[in-house]
Amino acid sequence: MFAVHLMAFYFTKLKEDQIKKVDRFLYHMRLSDETLLDIMARFQAEMQKGLGKDTNPTASVKMLPTFVRAIPDGSENGEFLSLDLGGSKFRVLKVQVSEEGKRNVQMESQFYPTPNEIIRGNGTELFEYVADCLADFMKTKELMEKKLPLGLTFSFPCKQTKLEEGVLLSWTKKFKARGVQGTDVVSSLTNAMRKHKDLDVDILALVNDTVGTMMTCAYDDPYCEVGVIIGTGTNACYMEDMSNIELVEGDEGRMCINTEWGAFGDDGALEDIRTEFDQELDLGSLNPGKQLFEKMISGLYVGELVRLILLKMAKAGLLFGGEKSSALHIKGKIETRHVAAMEKYKEGLANTREILTDLGLEPSEADCIAVQHVCTIVSFRSANLCAAALAAILTRLRENKKLVRLRTTVGMDGTLYKIHPQYPKRLHKVVRKLVPNCDVRFLLSESGSTKGAAMVTAVASRVQAQRKQIDKVLALFRLTREQLVGIRDKMRVELEYGLKRDTHPLATVKMLPTYVCGMPDGTEKGKFLALDLGGTNFRVLLVKIRSGRRSVRMYNKIFTIPLEIMQGTGEELFDHIVQCIADFLDYMGLKGAQLPLGFTFSFPCRQASIDKGTLIEWTKGFKATDCEGEDVVDMLREAIKRRNEFDLDIVAVVNDTVGTMMTCGYEDRNCEVGLIAGTGSNMCYMEEMRNIELVEGDEGKMCINTEWGGFGDNGCLDDIRTQYDKEVDEGSLNPGKQRYEKMTSGMYLGEIVRQILIDLTKQGLLFRGQISERLRTRGIFETKFLSQIESDRLALLQVRKILQQLGLDSTCEDSIVVKEVCGAVSRRAAELYGAGLAAIVEKRREDQGFEHLKITVGVDGTLYKLHPHFSRILQETVKELAPRCDVTFMLSEDGSGKGAALITAVAKRLQQARRQN
Ligand code: BG6
Ligand code: BG6
Ligand code: GLC
Ligand code: GLC
Repeated sequence: MFAVHLMAFYFTKLKEDQIKKVDRFLYHMRLSDETLLDIMARFQAEMQKGLGKDTNPTASVKMLPTFVRAIPDGSENGEFLSLDLGGSKFRVLKVQVSEEGKRNVQMESQFYPTPNEIIRGNGTELFEYVADCLADFMKTKELMEKKLPLGLTFSFPCKQTKLEEGVLLSWTKKFKARGVQGTDVVSSLTNAMRKHKDLDVDILALVNDTVGTMMTCAYDDPYCEVGVIIGTGTNACYMEDMSNIELVEGDEGRMCINTEWGAFGDDGALEDIRTEFDQELDLGSLNPGKQLFEKMISGLYVGELVRLILLKMAKAGLLFGGEKSSALHIKGKIETRHVAAMEKYKEGLANTREILTDLGLEPSEADCIAVQHVCTIVSFRSANLCAAALAAILTRLRENKKLVRLRTTVGMDGTLYKIHPQYPKRLHKVVRKLVPNCDVRFLLSESGSTKGAAMVTAVASRVQAQRKQIDKVLALFRLTREQLVGIRDKMRVELEYGLKRDTHPLATVKMLPTYVCGMPDGTEKGKFLALDLGGTNFRVLLVKIRSGRRSVRMYNKIFTIPLEIMQGTGEELFDHIVQCIADFLDYMGLKGAQLPLGFTFSFPCRQASIDKGTLIEWTKGFKATDCEGEDVVDMLREAIKRRNEFDLDIVAVVNDTVGTMMTCGYEDRNCEVGLIAGTGSNMCYMEEMRNIELVEGDEGKMCINTEWGGFGDNGCLDDIRTQYDKEVDEGSLNPGKQRYEKMTSGMYLGEIVRQILIDLTKQGLLFRGQISERLRTRGIFETKFLSQIESDRLALLQVRKILQQLGLDSTCEDSIVVKEVCGAVSRRAAELYGAGLAAIVEKRREDQGFEHLKITVGVDGTLYKLHPHFSRILQETVKELAPRCDVTFMLSEDGSGKGAALITAVAKRLQQARRQN
């Protein structure tokens, strides 16, 4: 009995001595609670640094956005392929996610070896190898016939700008294949797969193993918002608030951040706790100076640290009687599994003896106890460090949510965590001590990270399907060069039709003679009144022209025309106009003055002289009764008479295109075209008299108001008109009419956009499938909003604000789609304008028999002026479709009123000359 006690005493004493000896030797590796709290605080600061746009470039903890925005919600389904590369084992899998709403996942998998010559050889060969394994798997599982989406778990730091792309920042752990760093892993693998002709696989998602683990666990526990790997390498990810991620646009919801915490300390932040063993291990590694935190923690290094310590202790005579074996000198001889075995409760000591003996050593009882304690210190330090960093993440989550207590789940994986007998318990305990205000559940990912990767792929594949639907709609608005050439040529045909006496009555492009025959010559002078009706604003102007100096002074006032007047009776409309003139004269102190007046009337009028214009039909937003077929000059005169307050000498009625051409022509004599891209769409140009069969005489030129807005009214554009164009047409004041205008001008582009958005919402692709009252409201997308939304300078958030102002409650994804829709619609409009204009300038070039034509186009209209891309696309298209014309675009700064006054001045001069004769 005494002997037993003595033995026990002796053993306890022996153990104490050994432990003290090792503790003393590894004093530096034992971290106090204060140190851990300090490391936790340092890691919190590192996270902040990695998330900041300006600080990220120099941050060692990279905090990589993963573009995974939500944890699984159970609606995921389908069949997916999965690759899991970068951990201790390389696997190919097929994952089937249940369709029946129950959370049910079935997996079939196959492991493949990863020999050193592959993972440290040539990058191309590495990817070819991976593709070969995938092909082999698909053949064995008879999946070759299926086109399956693939999710790639790739456990290395990758910079992502979207889910299906990842540029490798650097290899870590055991991998070091050449030529991969800095390139997109997804495209490399896609390229490698092309070698297998029968392989038809789409890589939809690239995820880090931490992300896969978090998602795997979140599938079973929706509280899971952190993923941690303590395996070959170590790392963590967590769900961060978008508003804190400065590297990604948008601030709504959350996104998973792959911290890449393994690199913590690479900037020297952990030098005070790194030991000589850490330094030695680092120097002998594949990536010296890198992943310094990882090298103190993870499975690939824990055994090696133990070996280095044992060697040093032996050398110092503290172990094995000072003897070292040759095996103990070999790098990698002690592995994680050995450390785990040596630390087992019961068999630990026996295992230690066996392992040491296998290393060619002859350990005493005391040696075994000491070595076991070395393992404990090394693995304990690993757990402590992980706990400190994890505590920092948990604190961040709690603070983000502004909670006093956080309840959360951490998804865990990795061999060290899984096979080490005490590791999980130690880690959990320290975490709870460091963050007492967090209730943490640690959930082991039994099925690895691929189940989670499949969830991400499932969501991606749903998004991809939706994307395809959206693209299908947008594709309807894309015109090929051939189509544009076709439109240009059709326009040319219509122009000729309109000019010829026989075909004119049937022509949809009306080619109306304006009786404006020359450009101002600078001798014009006097004071004129001008009216400008039919654009966004109704203006009354006083224009003073001084001869010789080509200088014009203008005073104007904008008046509104209420909708009920625009669409009331003709008498009401003209009475209102006269009321506005009276107000203006009053305002200018010109009451009673009898001035010559030029009337810009931006609607199609048949003219027999410059001061007569019969309205053919209303366009745009006007629909006053009893006007069509009437002379608008007469109607204005009668209204003036009815008022019986003043008299005016109405000298000219001009279309806004003509006014614009004149305004610009006053400064640039080459200006022979007038273009309006505003509420409506139209163009005028100077035509040879000999080509105008409707007007007598062959000498000189006359301006033709093409009224090209009616192009397509005979069905010749039906091949490019979409269902949305038809809907806009049907809802307009003049169904079937002005089809080209309805595809190109400001008044309708917003309506086309609205129709598309309604359709996309119906298809469940926008606004959460909810069509709001607002979206049903006609005219909400005015040109100015369209222009704002498409501005490149605008961040997504601002787009969202504009949509919110319009009463459309959109997410950031919605905003992206809305912007794209606006872009597609306005681009088509600009291209159609370009094709139309190309037809005219080409005609002018040919008619004059020039090899090259130099011509100026005077332009006006809110679409042209406000839209950020419209003018550029229009100009590019003209260049492309009329390469032999050198077209200068001149913006009319002063509106068409100035031009109308100039025309009036010329007409007045001619009138007086006639009277004198
Ligand atoms: C596996 C996951 O379970 O764990 C991998 O499926 C991950 O994606 C791995 O990389 C990490 O552990 P280890 O020990 O294999 O590196
Ligand atoms: C103005 C002209 O500048 O532009 C008007 O003075 C013209 O005559 C108008 O109708 C066209 O643009 P919007 O966008 O106002 O229809
Ligand atoms: C390494 C990799 C990291 C990975 C971790 C665990 O740290 O850089 O991406 O998550 O190992 O496998
Ligand atoms: C409409 C009118 C036309 C006008 C154009 C631009 O197309 O019919 O006359 O020039 O709008 O305002």
